[in-house]
Amino acid sequence: MSLPHEELDRYRTEFASRFGGGESPALYFAPGRVNLIGEHTDYNGGHVLPIALEMGTYILLRPKDGPPSRVFSARIGKEVNLDLRSLRPRGDWCDYVRGVLHLLGREHRLPDFDALIFGDLPLEAGLSSSASLEVAMAFAAASLGVELSPEEAAALAWRAENEFVGVPCGVMDQYASAFGREGKALFLNCSTLEHRHVPCDLSPAVFLIAHTGVSRSLAGSEYRIRRQECVEALRLLSPLLGKRDTLAAVTVEELEKARGLLPETLRRRAEHVVRENLRVLETVTRLKAKDPEGVGTLLNLSHASLRDLYQVSSPELDAMQELSLAQPGVYGCRMTGAGFGGCAIVLIEEEWLPYYLEKVPALYCKATGRRPFFLPARPAGGARRMD
Ligand code: GLA
Repeated sequence: MSLPHEELDRYRTEFASRFGGGESPALYFAPGRVNLIGEHTDYNGGHVLPIALEMGTYILLRPKDGPPSRVFSARIGKEVNLDLRSLRPRGDWCDYVRGVLHLLGREHRLPDFDALIFGDLPLEAGLSSSASLEVAMAFAAASLGVELSPEEAAALAWRAENEFVGVPCGVMDQYASAFGREGKALFLNCSTLEHRHVPCDLSPAVFLIAHTGVSRSLAGSEYRIRRQECVEALRLLSPLLGKRDTLAAVTVEELEKARGLLPETLRRRAEHVVRENLRVLETVTRLKAKDPEGVGTLLNLSHASLRDLYQVSSPELDAMQELSLAQPGVYGCRMTGAGFGGCAIVLIEEEWLPYYLEKVPALYCKATGRRPFFLPARPAGGARRMD
């Protein structure tokens, strides 16, 4: 847990002064995530390998007798009143909460409640602050009489994002938030949703998150276009390969054979997906073998593919990758998440970390004019009730 007790107590006091004393509210937490490898593979039915972070979203929640339900976000500094009987998207931060409640409300009669939301995850950084809010709300539904398993919570959160908020994301973020485990990465098959935890200890090397200083939002990116391109590539491949459900089910050899069927752009997109999926499997093997060099090489290959074939990197992400690789002790680095801004993930020998943190910010700032920041990427536990 990253927020100290004193700070949690401060929010409890804030809850009481905003919503009144009485019974203590329940406290729920859901983490953000960083993906080690397997980018843009989830909506193509491939594998992903994220870790849950220590940072995330907290919700203090207490049911009450009458409307309106009140939700205050300490992150945004705004309070919203909700009528649980008629929830519609408004295009603001509270849609993630509304979406979860809307889907739950189809099958359950929910009591009204007061809630205070806070957290320590940077927003719009590509570290899944929205998924962590959705998953925290799905877990907090336990205090409204609907206890969900982690599977149910992740699936509901994902539906809220797709069907209510209207962002066509894959399943990775919500699953990583619900299923994170200390010291482990989540190896998730996004076709079958089968998953396993893989030890994630490459000591003396550690993972580090490098934020480019450029925020990103999924809704505003070319994410939708990439998704459509993948659907189109699969459609064009079907005369040769027969019907396949997902692009990740195509092999490298098949793709090679089908070269002539795809326009160059779509061929590149497909090649990224197929090879990136294989890189996830290889990374699991390299993690098990505690081989930081092997993992580092795979991270670098992933970055090159996202930059050149999938074309979702940015000048800032490329600069961060190049500068990082030029530092002593760095095994690998790649952009992580959807791309177009946000963060890179660096695998670095721990003893070189102070040197890196002293050197890279100034070099990066000089190269891009942006102010970066850095966060630890230690694999932490998934969503839970905390009190
Ligand atoms: C975003 C989406 C995920 C996934 C990644 C790219 O984070 O929310 O579902 O598609 O981009 O790997």
